[in-house]
Amino acid sequence: METSMDGFWGVGSEGKINEVNETYCKMSGYNKSELLSLKVMNLEALECPEEIAARVKKIFAGGDDRFESAHRRKDGTIFPVEVSIQYRKIRDGRLAVFIRDISGRKKGEEENRKLQEQLAQAQKMEVVGRLAGGVAHDFNNMLSIILGYTELIKDECKEEEQLNGLLAIEKAALHSRDIARQLLAFSRKQLITPKVLDINHVISDAQKMVSRLMGEDILLELNLAPHIGPVMLDPAQIDQIILNLAANARDAMTNGGRMIFTTKNFQGDSTFFMEHPEITPGKYVLLQAEDSGMGIDAGTMKHIFEPFFTTKEVGKGTGLGLATVYGIVKQNNGHILVSSELGKGTIFSIYFPQHIDEQATIFIEKKFNPTLFGQGTILVVEDEQPLRKLIVTMLEKIGYTVLTSSSTEEAIEIFSREKNQIDLLVSDVVMPGINGIDLQKILLSKKPALKTLFISGFPVEVMASKGLTDATIPFLLKPFTMASLAEKIKEILK
Ligand SMILES: Nc1ncnc2c1ncn2[C@@H]1O[C@H](COP(=O)(O)OP(=O)(O)O)[C@@H](O)[C@H]1O
Ligand SMILES: [Mg+2]
Repeated sequence: METSMDGFWGVGSEGKINEVNETYCKMSGYNKSELLSLKVMNLEALECPEEIAARVKKIFAGGDDRFESAHRRKDGTIFPVEVSIQYRKIRDGRLAVFIRDISGRKKGEEENRKLQEQLAQAQKMEVVGRLAGGVAHDFNNMLSIILGYTELIKDECKEEEQLNGLLAIEKAALHSRDIARQLLAFSRKQLITPKVLDINHVISDAQKMVSRLMGEDILLELNLAPHIGPVMLDPAQIDQIILNLAANARDAMTNGGRMIFTTKNFQGDSTFFMEHPEITPGKYVLLQAEDSGMGIDAGTMKHIFEPFFTTKEVGKGTGLGLATVYGIVKQNNGHILVSSELGKGTIFSIYFPQHIDEQATIFIEKKFNPTLFGQGTILVVEDEQPLRKLIVTMLEKIGYTVLTSSSTEEAIEIFSREKNQIDLLVSDVVMPGINGIDLQKILLSKKPALKTLFISGFPVEVMASKGLTDATIPFLLKPFTMASLAEKIKEILK
């Protein structure tokens, strides 16, 4: 009994515990002598004395029972248990009670339930999104026709009364178009032009507009992390998010209050990602919108992201604000979480994946070894403009004179003109038209002393298949640092 996996009590008349094993002591945090001075009702956390009495009576009559309940530990915390009881008619009659701590099982069940709920929620949003997207798409097309013809007829309309009618049609159609647009955003069908940006800039730019929207009774604060990671987003979409969240915060703070926009770099720990299995571990930029408003109750919370769900009176809310935000966040592979306390306020947390740019990894190092500075003229041939620009910037920084061309054909032309002063060819290998390797051959026939450095995103093995078989030809794999580029060139030109 002592070493049993289950806790054990021997319970006498009036619920007094007169026997207990070590396992239950561990479970409850009491020692043996403490437990032997207690009664069942001192440990039972769910049932009241009357219920316990009724249960005991039943067991005395019927023999045994098995049920789930919860017990209170010495430190006051409560843990779930499964109890099985047998009536033993020994001495004055007593109950043998076996108690199993089922915290682990309960936790598993709870996690399972949460996952199921999340899945169901995601599926619901998916279905509603597809429906809304389809409707909005058709609507948009029809509204284009309505607006187009209204405009045409308006131009030819002479009668004032008719003109007023047309203007009313136009206004209604424009309003409908706005709604259709929000629905398109929700269903992630909005056409967007994302770019790599600093979210802090966008928020700062929107500050004026937001504070006007909030009115004078609400204090707007920005709390922006100084070195925020880049994100790949359409700035117009961030504006949409901020405005919608701000409008909601305003409506939740009818007597004034405080709204704070915060940005942070976020990496999360294993606990965070365990609790939010839908979020892939990685680097995020976190945008939080916090208000000191009335908060959101649990019933409302389940629906806030659904299109057309609103708790506001007719004419005040469309129920499209958070649906739009949700759609935008999802369209950009982000996540949104909400926490709220009634009467205290609400925090929306939006996680955008940090943008990891391949070219950004060709970073310009802060500490640069001055012995790597060099002199000479370099012809850079690279068909990708941003990369070309970056290489030129790097080379000029370390002292070289640079000529550039975006194609091999142009490079040949420049070389014919400037071949006397060009010391080094830095060329991409795979390019449209003549490739880098053939270019080198052509230029070498014009100037045998010319040195070459090939750069490529493909590893050497792939280059070999392109004809770069001479392993002695210097080669640099993209992405590279300024230091490695400088070093390589120093080596070639020495
Ligand atoms: N900051 C907030 N504080 C309290 N409730 C909010 C907040 N943001 C949204 N809600 C709730 O979510 C609902 C849906 O919001 P939304 O989609 O923007 O539609 P609308 O603002 O038109 O009602 C609101 O009606 C409101 O009940
Ligand atoms: Mg709203």
